Amino acid sequence: MSTPLITTYENTCPARTATGVLRLRGASEPQSIHDGSLTIEPVLVSPNSAFGAEVSGVDWSRPIPPEMVKQVRLAVPEILPFQDKYAVLIFRKTGLDNARHIAFSQQLGDKLEINPFFFGRENDRVGEPLLFDVAKMQQDSSYHQQRSKYSILLSHGNPSVGGSWTHFADTRRAYADLPQAKKDEIEDLIIEHDLWHSRWLASPAIYSNPLPHELAAKPPAYHRLVQVGPDGRKTLYLAAHAKTVLGRSLEDSQKLIWELIDHCTQPQYVFSMEWLSGGDMVWWDNRQSMHRANVYTDQMTARDVRRSTIIDDGALAFGVSEEEKVAAGWTPPLAAGP
Ligand SMILES: [Fe+2]
Repeated sequence: MSTPLITTYENTCPARTATGVLRLRGASEPQSIHDGSLTIEPVLVSPNSAFGAEVSGVDWSRPIPPEMVKQVRLAVPEILPFQDKYAVLIFRKTGLDNARHIAFSQQLGDKLEINPFFFGRENDRVGEPLLFDVAKMQQDSSYHQQRSKYSILLSHGNPSVGGSWTHFADTRRAYADLPQAKKDEIEDLIIEHDLWHSRWLASPAIYSNPLPHELAAKPPAYHRLVQVGPDGRKTLYLAAHAKTVLGRSLEDSQKLIWELIDHCTQPQYVFSMEWLSGGDMVWWDNRQSMHRANVYTDQMTARDVRRSTIIDDGALAFGVSEEEKVAAGWTPPLAAGP
């Protein structure tokens, strides 16, 4: 029998062994941080950065009444600064169901992304238009002109046999470590994010020629490559949806984009989170991290993880203006003829 093809990075959460895991802990960062009822265990810590944390102490058993969702932005507001700092927060055995997954997500932003592949409760396994049944590095929904800020992935049932992992890359620390000459080169670049490009990468035979109405239904979006993230640090905003750099050829654009993705996914910036049991949940910030699921193989049992996506309502949510695009070398598409 062949061995399941499971890939994990050097850094894992939880740690694979007591001694065999590279944890880049800085001298000033304690192993665990206690804040009120919360305990935070950072995953990847270097002297000037921290990325990913397991959080315990949240009472997920409390129902969240609708009036509370409206009146109180977040039932546990003390979590938000940790989200900004670590970008990826992991919660174990939350016990949440679809409805409370959605209710928690709605506390983090006014709008959730609607699943375009939802066609009705009776023929949809998840049964919720606000949840996505969910392998390349991604920043969820960067191809929307109003992008998403957070994604929340919740596991249902038992994890798949053979191991189940999601991988996260720290785009802030990766940016900080770039040589100054590269930072200067990319500082003002604008990236075209295109759903059809990432689909073509995944399945060239199927997506080589999207139809005009498909292209019109999901046109590309334009966002700055270098941005200031919620924690005030600069970050790289790119992933597999990134198609071109405005003002550069497709070939030159892809060369730079994949040079930067390869840079961000070096082992020192990445950790692999293991799905241990039903109710495990991970909440990440797409504006300052990249992620991907592990490859799925026929050796594994089905995985049931469901994602909500919270639409960005911040200053950079809509990307760049038409004027900025034109200044960067973009030309508007020709209007359709009569
Ligand atoms: Fe994703």
